[in-house]
Amino acid sequence: MKRLTVPAIRQRKKDGVTAEPVVMLTAYTARQAQLLDAHCDLLLVGDSLGQVIYGLPSSVPVTLDMMIAHGAAVVRGSYHAAVVVDMPFGTYEQSPEQAFASASRVLKETGCAAIKLEGGEAMAPTVAFLTQRGIPVMGHVGLTPQAVNVLGGYNARGRSEAEAAKIVGDAKALDKAGAFAVVIEGVVEPIAIAITQAVACPTIGIGASAQCDGQVLVTEDMLGMFERVPRFVKIYENIAEVISGAAAKYAEEVRARSFPGEEQTYQPRAPKA
Ligand code: KIV
Ligand code: NA
Repeated sequence: MKRLTVPAIRQRKKDGVTAEPVVMLTAYTARQAQLLDAHCDLLLVGDSLGQVIYGLPSSVPVTLDMMIAHGAAVVRGSYHAAVVVDMPFGTYEQSPEQAFASASRVLKETGCAAIKLEGGEAMAPTVAFLTQRGIPVMGHVGLTPQAVNVLGGYNARGRSEAEAAKIVGDAKALDKAGAFAVVIEGVVEPIAIAITQAVACPTIGIGASAQCDGQVLVTEDMLGMFERVPRFVKIYENIAEVISGAAAKYAEEVRARSFPGEEQTYQPRAPKA
């Protein structure tokens, strides 16, 4: 299987119609990437790794070095899906030049196909700057978690008319600037539908609408790794129960000295006759 390319993903949507929805999940490690790869068009190395695997309070403290280390692992673990790496807060917003310096490091040091950055109209010149210089960009509008300190929380966006119009304008600006796809996160459904109809590139929804051109979820969320997840998460399996159940069994066997058993124990070879 040849790895999917960014232009192939972009071309999924033709004249406003996406016959085959774009499937994206997050991946942070090589083994996770191996397991998800065959089922996904895109693997996203999300800066959600800050909370999900580093226990940080938000994605704001995530660094470029963290994203590069995990991005490289996910590229090594996959061969079919196109890998997209999130640009962390503070590494791209200042200027198109700052964004290019950071994003080119990500591309060179991970081997990923594209980067993703948060923000709308204000980021459009940066999206154009990167795209024109060989770095494909995925946009991200609506609930943009890196702006949590401005937004004041993780509530769904676009409930007022003014906010709805702003989000639609953001997506349009990114599309026009050359983004190959746009994530729409945490918005009321009519806005997600309006954006999907208004932009030429595929929209990828999370807490958005089934009418988006694709969907993304945080893998750990849909695997039931956390007790509290947003309403837009569907839990497909409860892996947390599997892991704690296995640990409980192991602990019990160690304490009872029934692990390791004969099968897991080396014995000296019988001396040759
Ligand atoms: O960081 C992340 O996982 C993301 C997705 C939720 C879109 O940005
Ligand atoms: Na992210």
